[in-house]
Amino acid sequence: GSEKVFNLTISKGSFAPDGFSRDIYLINGQFPGPSIECNKGDTLVINVNNQLNEDTTIHSHGIFQRGTPWYDGVPGQTQCGIPSGGSFTYTFAVNQSGTYWYHSHSRGQYIEGLVGPLIVHDPADPYTKDYDKEITVLLQDWYHTDSPTLLASFLTPASQGNEPSPDNGLINGKNSYNCSSAPAGSNCVNNASLSQFNFVSGKKYRIRIINTSAFSAFIFSIDDHPMDVIEVEGMMTQRYTVHRLPINIAQRYSVIVTADKPVKSYWMRAEMETACYAVVSPSLNPLVKAIVTYNGSTDQSPSSTAWTDKVKNCTDLDASNLKPYNPQKVPQADLNFTVQVLFQPDSNNVTLGYINNSTYKIDTNNPTIMKVYNGVTQFAADQNVFLVEKNSVVDIILINLDTGEHPFHLHGHVFWLLGSGVNGTKPDKNKLNANDPIQRDTTTVPAGGWAVLRFVSDNPGVWGFHCHIEWHVQSGLVSQFVAQPDQIKTLNSPADWKALCPST
Ligand code: C2O
Repeated sequence: GSEKVFNLTISKGSFAPDGFSRDIYLINGQFPGPSIECNKGDTLVINVNNQLNEDTTIHSHGIFQRGTPWYDGVPGQTQCGIPSGGSFTYTFAVNQSGTYWYHSHSRGQYIEGLVGPLIVHDPADPYTKDYDKEITVLLQDWYHTDSPTLLASFLTPASQGNEPSPDNGLINGKNSYNCSSAPAGSNCVNNASLSQFNFVSGKKYRIRIINTSAFSAFIFSIDDHPMDVIEVEGMMTQRYTVHRLPINIAQRYSVIVTADKPVKSYWMRAEMETACYAVVSPSLNPLVKAIVTYNGSTDQSPSSTAWTDKVKNCTDLDASNLKPYNPQKVPQADLNFTVQVLFQPDSNNVTLGYINNSTYKIDTNNPTIMKVYNGVTQFAADQNVFLVEKNSVVDIILINLDTGEHPFHLHGHVFWLLGSGVNGTKPDKNKLNANDPIQRDTTTVPAGGWAVLRFVSDNPGVWGFHCHIEWHVQSGLVSQFVAQPDQIKTLNSPADWKALCPST
């Protein structure tokens, strides 16, 4: 592999993705951030130059960071923030392929623009001959108010734990907005342009879909064009045809689409799943659109009609329909942890997220991995640490006592999704699929339901395990696996990384 260098300069500036101007985070003056791409086996060198008035981090979501756990980019767990005006370089080998993304892991920064795609190509990919071109589609919900303001009102008794509703949604950073819904005095322009994709008749496209939302699951489709799912979060699958693809926060899919329809324009649709919101902004138009135009088409404005297939709200694409391209033997587990999810008011009557009755408190200046280096073996209860001393196969038994669903993400690994169940059911050993389950890194545990995830813990490091709804991260629905602390200590961590922490 070779070295691929990317320079990311991070700043803030006024931007109007949907015609509504507001201050957002920019990467190299752009939004969304540039696509970081490399080949399997390459080493990524990501130089971050922090031009903000606050600290930041960059997390490469889904990348294993084997042997480099200090580059996972999680404040409070794997690093201290890159200070205002400072620079830091993340250097890591990428020995996996597929569709990933990078984002700030600091406070609400990613949902205000500090985000971009991360694509790892593999010339030996089994489907390379089955498509001609690639397209990346970044989906996200979008707020017209800054995160600190939203967060401050979310973390009050008055919110009762109801998450702020997005104002809009974006496809590759674009959409339009009806400015008559914008508050008086705002700088808003109607009919902002939508994202546009070109198809060449007869060609086949690999479309990589990434949901980078704060809060919203989406249902993705392209009118008249079926999609064959071939990848789930870096793991290749057997082809599975869908018309409407549910995709929750932080999840990714690749689909193959054939441009074999009449030469004209079609809607690409990403429907925000407002059925899973606590409150919906009255001005929200949940249907986000982009335009797919065949080369040579004379109609620039589509008249196509949407697929009508029913999709269950607020759940993942049914895993029982997805088969791994290369099924592997799933090992027996030798350790298991129950992870119970609950929201309840704290002593100030603020509704917070709890994992096993403990709400997470970030220890910004003394991240867990530093504690490990400094010989700490016992962690405070509010760190929500699951300790895996030795190389093991671990089951996570995720029990959701909450009335909402939660997209849980495990850092540093993929897990086999052995099973999940809806409200009123309990995990049943006999109903788990340990035969040919898919692997992924983010899955939705249904409201009142459960999920069982199995992973091989052979990657020494500190690995976050959290709900990826950003409001829930900020309200404490976060835990971490400390894997093989004795091994972590034998890995020689870089001096400039240690220097990020003020006094440890
Ligand atoms: Cu997308 Cu903790 O990560």
